[in-house]
Amino acid sequence: MLLQIPDVLTAEQVAAFRMALAQADWVDGKVTAGHQSAKAKNNLQLPEDHPLSRELGNAILQALERNPLFLSAALPLKVFPPLFNCYQGGGSFGVHVDNAIRDIRGTPHRVRTDISATLFLSQPHEYEGGELLIEDTYGAKSVKLPAGYMILYPSTSLHKVNPVTKGARLASFFWTQSLVRDDAQRALLFDLDTSIQRLTQDVPDHASLVQMTGIYHNLLRMWADT
Ligand code: NI
Repeated sequence: MLLQIPDVLTAEQVAAFRMALAQADWVDGKVTAGHQSAKAKNNLQLPEDHPLSRELGNAILQALERNPLFLSAALPLKVFPPLFNCYQGGGSFGVHVDNAIRDIRGTPHRVRTDISATLFLSQPHEYEGGELLIEDTYGAKSVKLPAGYMILYPSTSLHKVNPVTKGARLASFFWTQSLVRDDAQRALLFDLDTSIQRLTQDVPDHASLVQMTGIYHNLLRMWADT
């Protein structure tokens, strides 16, 4: 499932992030790439242990905890501390699949990457190229969102970032280990939850709402690993 989540960050937050990132020391993005993807990766990245990565990453995690769309769609168990990258001067990332398991540096924790996320920090008109292309069964989907918006996509997908030929594309990226590993099961739960939310608004006293909510939780119980 591909899902766009608007306004994960406010305009004020995006502006504050941009100001802080403009003064940071960036390094070659190959530092977090696996052996295969390092060959395809050509961008800049803020080091994982940079204090600014932690500070801004925590602000994103706090925003996600309050975002009903993210919680319903991702059913997060663990979220990898968000990282930051910058594409400019022709920088790109060729076709790859994200590593299945990621160690959280400095901790004994690991995250199975079920869902990949890109949170855009530059406005689309500020750079040329830089589309995130995600291959799914219907072909490649091209994604270029307003600053503060986020795309969620299955980490199993092949994807790439087109060269940025003008301007700079700043973004945060991270992975979520979901309570529900399987993308199709997660999509079904998201559809059911969305329907229940709508019905709760439109027909709040309908007797079947209790039953539908029961079905949601019983499916989640069947499929979740914690
Ligand atoms: Ni990737």
